Amino acid sequence: MVVKANEGKSVPGHVCIIMDGNGRWAKKRLMPRTFGHKKGVETTRAAIEVFARAGVKHLSLFAFSSENWNRPADEVNTLMELFLHSLEKNTPELNAKGIRIRFIGDRSAFTAQLQGEISATEALTRDNQTMTLNVAANYGGQWDIVNAARQLASKVEKGLLRAENINQKLLEAELSLADTPDPDLFIRTGGEHRISNFLIWQLAYTEFVFTDVLWPDFSEQEMQFALDEYSSRQRRYGKTGDQVEADQAC
Ligand code: IPE
Ligand code: IPE
Ligand code: MG
Repeated sequence: MVVKANEGKSVPGHVCIIMDGNGRWAKKRLMPRTFGHKKGVETTRAAIEVFARAGVKHLSLFAFSSENWNRPADEVNTLMELFLHSLEKNTPELNAKGIRIRFIGDRSAFTAQLQGEISATEALTRDNQTMTLNVAANYGGQWDIVNAARQLASKVEKGLLRAENINQKLLEAELSLADTPDPDLFIRTGGEHRISNFLIWQLAYTEFVFTDVLWPDFSEQEMQFALDEYSSRQRRYGKTGDQVEADQAC
C-alpha cells in the first residue's frame, strides 16, 4: 500500500513514536530479545520513508531511554552495536533522500566511536530539507527539563537574566527540540499506555494513538491508520468544539 501525501486530510507536522514491543515480538518466536531489536530496525527504516512520503516534516523516534541502561548488559551492548551499524548503513541513503538526522539526549554516555558517528551524521545531513529525523538516544523528558532549568540558572548566575523574567517561552528555548514545533501526533506501539519519560513537556497538547501491534509488526498500513486517526481528531486547545468549527470556517 502506498501512502500519498495529503489526499485532503490534515497531515501532522511533527510525529513522535515510542517504538515498543521488540522484546515481546522475539519472545513470541522463542528468540532472544536482540532478534526483535534487529527486526525493529527494519520497521524504523520503513517508518522514516512512510512518514516522509506522507508529508510529515519532523519525526522523533524514541530509540533508547535514559532508563534503558537498567537492562541486562548484553542487551544494552547489542543495542549500541545496532545503533552504530544502522547509522553507518542507512545514513548515506537517508542523506540522499534529503533527511536531516539529529540526536537528542545525553550523548556523553556513549562510546567515543558512537559519539563520532553521531556528530558526523548530524554534520553531513545538517542542510537537508525533506524531513528532520530526531533520534532520542539516552533521552529522558525529565533530564531535558532539568537541563533547561540548569541553563536558565546559569544565565541568572551570570547576570544575563532575572529570575522573575523566566517564563514558559524562555524555558522552552532551552529544551532539546527548541526549534521544532511540538508533536502533533504521538504513537506508541506494543500495547502499553504510558509516556515512559519521552517528550513530557512537548506532549502537552499532542494527539495520542496507542496500538497493541508490536513494533516489528508495525506495517505501512498501521502507520496510515495512525495518520487517518489523527486526521479525524478535533484539536480544541481549551476552546469549545463550536468555536473551533467557527475558526476553521473563517
Ligand atoms: C523497544 O522494545 C525498544 C527499546 C526499548 C530499545 P522493547 O525492548 O522495550 O520491547 P518489549 O517492550 O520488551 O517487548
Ligand atoms: C520506552 O520503552 C523506550 C523506548 C522505546 C526506547 P520501554 O520499553 O523502555 O518502556 P517501559 O519500561 O515499558 O515503560
Ligand atoms: Mg518495552
